[in-house]
Amino acid sequence: PRVAVVFGGRSSEHAVSCATAAGVLSAIDRERYDVVPIGVSRDGSWVLVDDDPEPLRLVPGHTPEVVHAGTEVALSTSVGDRTLSVHAPGQPPQAFGEVDVVFPLLHGPYGEDGTLQGMLELADVRYVGSGVLASAAGMDKHYMKVVFAGAGLPVGPYTVITDRQWRADPAAAMDAVGALSWPVFVKPCRAGSSMGVSRVERPEDLEAAIEAAREHDLKVIVEAGIVGREIECAVLEGHGLDAPRTSLPGEIVVESGHGHDFYDFEAKYLDESAVRLSCPAELSEQVSDEVRRLAAEAFDALACEGLARVDCFVTERGEVVINEINTMPGFTPHSMYPRMWQASGLAYPDLIDELVQLALE
Ligand code: DAL
Ligand code: MG
Repeated sequence: PRVAVVFGGRSSEHAVSCATAAGVLSAIDRERYDVVPIGVSRDGSWVLVDDDPEPLRLVPGHTPEVVHAGTEVALSTSVGDRTLSVHAPGQPPQAFGEVDVVFPLLHGPYGEDGTLQGMLELADVRYVGSGVLASAAGMDKHYMKVVFAGAGLPVGPYTVITDRQWRADPAAAMDAVGALSWPVFVKPCRAGSSMGVSRVERPEDLEAAIEAAREHDLKVIVEAGIVGREIECAVLEGHGLDAPRTSLPGEIVVESGHGHDFYDFEAKYLDESAVRLSCPAELSEQVSDEVRRLAAEAFDALACEGLARVDCFVTERGEVVINEINTMPGFTPHSMYPRMWQASGLAYPDLIDELVQLALE
């Protein structure tokens, strides 16, 4: 099959998406798949790019980027044949041939949020990962919690500040935050990789944190700090009628003394010594099973497809609280999602293969 690997994109996680693509381009089985790499520039142009993963890696001092210099691509389809033609504008649709499946390695809005998925649904083209609703709800830290709570899953206390509430009465919005247990985490509702996220310990720092989150999204969520370990679990859709599969859980340990008071962007991608990804996490069998059960339920509550990473807190008393779900989690070989599968017996190239096969099913 021919696979279009689409990455970059208009969101603030552009560089992270490039890093994810570097991982996939290096490991995808070339005997099995013919790969068409398509980069989406920050301004939203789709271009055919070089297959070389090296310049796409995210390392200190180098922020990878899709530059709008390659051949621009237009996509066309005829509904019903389930293939996507890739060609330059003005060229006949067959110019670069047809692809059978799209692997949208895009993080954040305009890629992970259902917009691209909607376009692919309209075109009747197969793609890896969740559909429109799960992608949209999974991108929004507010609605995902509404869905989880509605399904009876444990979520922590939070409050949402919409653009209208903030502009109409910021004092009232901040009063609502005051009722949460501190410190609080202030986040843009629809962003990722900790972009625009602040840990706030004192009310006098709240306003600046809200403004910083609003740079990424005018809808802001403030979550009560939960004292507990940060435990994640990888979920993979089952084949046919099988239930979702879950990995052994992993743990994020933010090392003290590196200047990161939480798992922020630097700690995630640039400062290797700041954080330890421990997998499998040292948990009792009972807690590990509970994390896995809740992760699978969260996946189903949102009607996810393909893959998702569910992030939880485990309190000292062994209670599990779901913090969020990511429908296109970071996917470099060093990222938590593939590492949790690796620890569970599914190697990175096989995981990629599995995802493409699920999309083709
Ligand atoms: N949003 C980033 C890529 C993650 O969830 O891993
Ligand atoms: Mg997220």
